[in-house]
Amino acid sequence: MARGRFILLEGCDRAGKSTQCAMLVAALKEKGYAVELCKFPERTTTIGQMINAYLTNAKELDDQAIHLLFSANRWEAMQAMKNKLREGVHLVVDRYAYSGVAFSAAKGLDLTWCKNPDRGLVRPDLTFFLDLPTSEAEKRGGFGEERYEKRELQEKVRHLFHELKGKEWVMVDARSSVQAMHETILKTALDKIQEAQNEAQSGELLE
Ligand code: TMP
Ligand code: MG
Repeated sequence: MARGRFILLEGCDRAGKSTQCAMLVAALKEKGYAVELCKFPERTTTIGQMINAYLTNAKELDDQAIHLLFSANRWEAMQAMKNKLREGVHLVVDRYAYSGVAFSAAKGLDLTWCKNPDRGLVRPDLTFFLDLPTSEAEKRGGFGEERYEKRELQEKVRHLFHELKGKEWVMVDARSSVQAMHETILKTALDKIQEAQNEAQSGELLE
């Protein structure tokens, strides 16, 4: 059986990641694939509750401390994610270490220091970056509700995402319609999943 694929969606706040993740999960399920949604921060754990209190301005924390909590929130999910992938379950992931680095570095923390705690996390097989100009994000409902939803910071974050992006990233124009974005994301994700199945089959022939 082929290992599940790790499909990540990244982007600034209000780019439409959560909507696209939900649509992708639903479409893959409808096609009969085993697929699960993961979201970071995962706010339901003890660490996640601390992160939530920080993001909603109920609690103050040093920039370094919150950075490490975001990373720990990924590490605490790692074993379960690896098990799922091994079982052949595809994971659609809403934010990951790139958000971790981009947001903390945008606040002024050293880039290398920011990257270090996430070293060793399982790597995504496919990363979509939903790119939205900050001027557009600002107009979307809910912008400004949480701590980091401020124009100046979001612009720095967007700039840092562009610095961090790998050659393999798939850039998606988040000004496009929800449906157009979904079609692009679904097609690319299906190609990636198919590639994995082909690899598994050729592996079997060689055994
Ligand atoms: P969310 O809106 O996707 O729930 O994310 C909440 C905020 O947390 C968002 O502004 C991005 C930020 N964030 C970090 O600063 N570091 C991280 O590691 C993650 C996953 C999110
Ligand atoms: Mg948000």
